[in-house]
Amino acid sequence: MRPLVFITGASSGIGQALALRYHHAGWRLALAARRVPEMQAWLETHGVSPELAHCYLADVSDVNSIIAAANECLAEQGVPDVVIANAGISIGMDTQVRQDLEVLQQVMNTNVVGMAATFHPFLHAMKNRAVQMGHSQHVGTLVGIASVAGIRGMPGHAAYCASKAAAIGYCESLRGELKPEGFKVVTLAPGYIKTPLTQKNKFPMPFLMSATDFAEAAFQAIEKGHSFKVIPTPMAWVARVLRILPNTLFDRAFKNVPRKHRSTD
Ligand SMILES: NC(=O)c1ccc[n+]([C@@H]2O[C@H](COP(=O)([O-])OP(=O)(O)OC[C@H]3O[C@@H](n4cnc5c(N)ncnc54)[C@H](OP(=O)(O)O)[C@@H]3O)[C@@H](O)[C@H]2O)c1
Repeated sequence: MRPLVFITGASSGIGQALALRYHHAGWRLALAARRVPEMQAWLETHGVSPELAHCYLADVSDVNSIIAAANECLAEQGVPDVVIANAGISIGMDTQVRQDLEVLQQVMNTNVVGMAATFHPFLHAMKNRAVQMGHSQHVGTLVGIASVAGIRGMPGHAAYCASKAAAIGYCESLRGELKPEGFKVVTLAPGYIKTPLTQKNKFPMPFLMSATDFAEAAFQAIEKGHSFKVIPTPMAWVARVLRILPNTLFDRAFKNVPRKHRSTD
């Protein structure tokens, strides 16, 4: 039986590129997002046969919705070997504006709570399968798509940076919690990747990488079971410097960074 990967946010960008990479590697696909017609059209365009891929309607910011989609996947396709919590949104916020508190909630619900709610429904099923197969040393792999934006908080990017910092911390906790149970938890932190999400950015995006190249590097990192990886590599060097940069220098370097686009701009 071919291995199965469950990917959220598979109607666009990084999620689609990951789906294609796993398809080329011979995996079955379980794709989840709100825009099911986009995922179905994409499967048709790439000639992926219906036995090898199913699409699930899921809103990851609604816990019941993503749990229902995961349960459908378990019933229709079985237990995934890899679960990738990739769905995410990026919206600017201004704490002085009352409506933007709802933006923060929406971003946190999607990028953080949605990640936990994507992993949650698979954990028991993955453990049970491993017991039945007699290989409880490797139960399954959980992948969280975070961001380099989670390493430091940039002015005007508060909601996104906070959500990605939380995603990094959450995945790190989960890694320690689930290691004794035989799970691998992989945190991937993309730099700038060419997708609809970055199309609206009006600021320079150093080391901009295609989604296809990102998917290749991500696939390799997941296969190797990296605990944390920044992609692309030059951005990993930047991330290392950012992590240790004293606040005074960081504040000076980023004081003029353009603010992230707000929904009411
Ligand atoms: N592109 C970059 O440079 C970059 C850098 C760092 C991190 N990332 C992260 O990579 C991930 C993918 O981003 P991308 O660049 O591929 O963006 P994208 O092209 O805008 O795709 C985002 C995907 O997330 C899905 N999504 C958003 N909200 C959702 C919800 N509530 N429920 C279910 N699915 C939802 C969207 O599907 P529907 O709209 O159909 O639901 C879409 O498939 C995100 O977590 C993003 O933060 C991207």
